[in-house]
Amino acid sequence: MVKKPAEFAILKIGDREVKLPIIAGTEGDCGIDVSSLRKETGMITVDPGLGNTAACYSSISYINGEKGELRYRGIPIEELVKKVQFIDVAYLLVHGELPGTEERRKFSDLLNVDSLMHEDMRHFFDLFPQGSHPMHILSTMINAMASFYPNVDLKSLADDIDSSCARVISIVRTMAAFAYKKSIGEPVVYPRHDLSYCANFLNMMFDSPVKPYHIHPETVRLLNVLFILHADHEQNCSTTVVRSIGSAQVNLYATISAGISALSGPLHGGANQAVIEMLRMIHEDGDINKFVRMAKAKDNAFRLMGFGHRVYRTFDPRAVIIRQECENYLNLIHCNDPLLDTAHRLEEIATKDPYFVDRQLYPNVDFYTGILYRAMGIPENMFTVMFALARLPGWVAHWKEMIGSGTKIVRPRQIYIGKELVASEEVEDRNNSKII
Ligand code: ACO
Repeated sequence: MVKKPAEFAILKIGDREVKLPIIAGTEGDCGIDVSSLRKETGMITVDPGLGNTAACYSSISYINGEKGELRYRGIPIEELVKKVQFIDVAYLLVHGELPGTEERRKFSDLLNVDSLMHEDMRHFFDLFPQGSHPMHILSTMINAMASFYPNVDLKSLADDIDSSCARVISIVRTMAAFAYKKSIGEPVVYPRHDLSYCANFLNMMFDSPVKPYHIHPETVRLLNVLFILHADHEQNCSTTVVRSIGSAQVNLYATISAGISALSGPLHGGANQAVIEMLRMIHEDGDINKFVRMAKAKDNAFRLMGFGHRVYRTFDPRAVIIRQECENYLNLIHCNDPLLDTAHRLEEIATKDPYFVDRQLYPNVDFYTGILYRAMGIPENMFTVMFALARLPGWVAHWKEMIGSGTKIVRPRQIYIGKELVASEEVEDRNNSKII
């Protein structure tokens, strides 16, 4: 609920004063409502990267970047990872409440029914060149879903949000596992109705006709934890893409496909793969300080991947949980990954270095995630796909919230810095040019 403004900010432009309402939410940042600014003054606001702009009202997740807190629908992530499973969190994000027993059963049934991909879509996988990144395959396949599944119009999708949500969450999991199987030249494994969401995914990834996969309960629990921690993160880059594209009333599948493309970037979800590549480089070189120096050098584009965040000014609370889980799991499976040691040493050096301390740069969610995925047997080019699977409920929840709130089409302004009017005589007439 948006509270009625109790305070106003006064903006002075020359000798004119404009009264702008101050908007307060339940918690967190207050904002100055500038929606009438252009009409009243002819001016607009400038905020590249939108770091100071609330582009919407939302009640899905809350971050306190100073304290390092993250809550979904009011519930801290620390509670959720201890007490519920990923499908509960998916339901919570989309519906606002954790599911009761009957709601959970229905949602689970839907996830099962919708887990099969249209058989004709399987041929698509054969057409991608060998070595295609699974994130590219995934965004293409999801975009294609609109052609295979009827009722993609906005109203049908929003009216039957449970089915739409279950279909996209469930099928994408199947597509991701199929993409992996294709990439290693093995036959695909179909989803099973007797397995939970995460166990099913692991089975589709790793079962084979010649080597049955043993589903380890601790690996399933861990995947649940990782998926829960990645499920939503308010107005991050890919969610902003989802809300922007969705505001043009594009169908859900095309919208999610765009979110996946945004997530694939190395400054966003692609960072989990980039972290492992960086840790391997540091490990092989052996000189951590050299890489820290490179990250600090103004003339070097190198950054410490998995460090820094637009919102957190302290440790990312997800990284804190994943760091601990990482140590526990590697101990449990007797895995001695030298990259974990490199990560610990890098964290220790960087978090004491004035450059990182002054800029409040701490490990983010991606710093330890890749090491865990490696230990679980997930190949590196699938890391960002794992992030995408986990983020689906968040994207769907934001899409639903945006559609339901009657949001106007997203259409920002700009400050034009190009050429002034070019005179007509300076534009050569090329209609009779011989060069076609
Ligand atoms: N290594 C070295 N320096 C850094 C790093 C880093 N990882 N991150 C930020 N800085 C420096 C910048 O050079 C800048 O320094 P300056 O003030 O001297 O110019 C300052 O810290 C602020 O950096 P910005 O880029 O302005 O911060 P912004 O909030 O725009 O970027 C981002 C956040 C993209 C996450 C950035 O910290 C980064 O590139 N990190 C590495 C990539 C990464 O881990 N991404 C995953 C983020 S989590 C997620 O998306 C799921």
